Amino acid sequence: MARKYIVEGGTNLQGEITIRGAKNAVTKEMVAALLAPGVSRLRNVPDIGDVDITRRVLESLGCGVRHDAAAGTLEIDGSTLSTPEVPAEYSGLNRIPILMVGPLLHRFGRAVVPMMGGCGIGERPIDFHLQGFESLGAKVEYHDGAYHFSAERLTGTRITLPFPSVGATENLMMAAALAHGTTEIRNAAIEPEIVDLALLLQAMGAIISQETDRTWVIQGVDSLRPADHRVLNDRIEAASFAVSAVATGGDVFIRGADQLHLLTFLNWLRRAGGEFDVKPDGIRFYGRDRKLKSIAAETGVHPGLMTDWQQPLVILLTQATGMSVIHETVYENRFGYVEALNRMGAHIQVFDECLGGKDCRFRHLGHRHSAVILGPTPLRGAEMEIPDLRAGFSYLVAAVLAKGKSTLTGVRYIERGYDHVVEKFRSLGASIEVVEE
Ligand code: UD1
Repeated sequence: MARKYIVEGGTNLQGEITIRGAKNAVTKEMVAALLAPGVSRLRNVPDIGDVDITRRVLESLGCGVRHDAAAGTLEIDGSTLSTPEVPAEYSGLNRIPILMVGPLLHRFGRAVVPMMGGCGIGERPIDFHLQGFESLGAKVEYHDGAYHFSAERLTGTRITLPFPSVGATENLMMAAALAHGTTEIRNAAIEPEIVDLALLLQAMGAIISQETDRTWVIQGVDSLRPADHRVLNDRIEAASFAVSAVATGGDVFIRGADQLHLLTFLNWLRRAGGEFDVKPDGIRFYGRDRKLKSIAAETGVHPGLMTDWQQPLVILLTQATGMSVIHETVYENRFGYVEALNRMGAHIQVFDECLGGKDCRFRHLGHRHSAVILGPTPLRGAEMEIPDLRAGFSYLVAAVLAKGKSTLTGVRYIERGYDHVVEKFRSLGASIEVVEE
């Protein structure tokens, strides 16, 4: 049954919400639990679709998984892992199955990961993952719609990533934890969610250190043991609600918003005229009586402005006076969602050029990766089909901000990544009706 949200906009959000564990950490940590025989426990687990999908993938491999959504705990029994072959039905979710390779290789000496369309070196490439596994000594072949990895035991090596990919860093870090010898991953990603994964691996018995200049050093050990780990809070959820508070001229306390992991975001929010008070247990965000200002910013890998903060920020900038520029340097194609905002009354144009910052690796490749936003523009309600997770949340913020009624379809994308999103918005005063069709 498809669900849709009917939003009556124009609300100033007021009140308090609590942030849960990070989507981008918890799914990888569920996979990491497979590296040890026995039951690992994760706490502060968000109640989101991606956790369910990852649970199903793990169960399909024979693992026992107990999820107590109300308590926010997950217990994963890695000892019952019974097959190295990820079923084909999960081939569309290439981020999760490809991360299984390390644990499966260590347990079975081989791993089979289905990948529809074969090469996978298109829109959502996995070439860094494949090259990394080859450097660690695995044989990688593609046939019958799947990647086939084999290795008696992975061997530590030095890997330099062409770009600090989050997924490739996590994948190779997990694989290196049980490899023979020491692995160095250079030009690696250092996002807080990766540090959280490293903390879990260390608690499981790994020897893992973060060196200067984006380098992780992992000294392989012979075995790992289960651990009990609290997932770090979701900095994307926190920033998304922060923007919602400021853009609607509201006042919201976000319990669990962590200043350390929001440092860059908070600076940009303040430059754009949003305000916040840091408290011991969270951050209060407010936009009431404030004039929003245009900014020129570019997204980047950590500690830069995170690409997943880009979409909510653009909504905010539609309400700022003047011309703002956002240069997206992490993904080549992350502005598709602005068309719907323009239908709501925004003035946003997207360009191939590297605007508002340094040239990036997408220069001259024809990717529309810079946006110019003219504001302020009042938004009006519209019918919107959600194209992906982060854009989906932005549509929801835009709908809450807009005058009149909006209808959002494809809301499963939002629910894959945001914990109890409708309840949280409603508790802040937004009018959202959920309709099942
Ligand atoms: C993760 C996050 C996502 C976030 C992104 C960047 C999860 C579940 N998702 O995605 O929310 O936006 O990090 O912070 O954690 N690339 C290659 N070859 C590869 C791998 C990546 O070219 O083998 C490219 C990608 O196309 C992209 C860039 O590297 O342009 C960054 O991708 P990556 O950091 O790997 O993103 P994900 O781990 O998929």
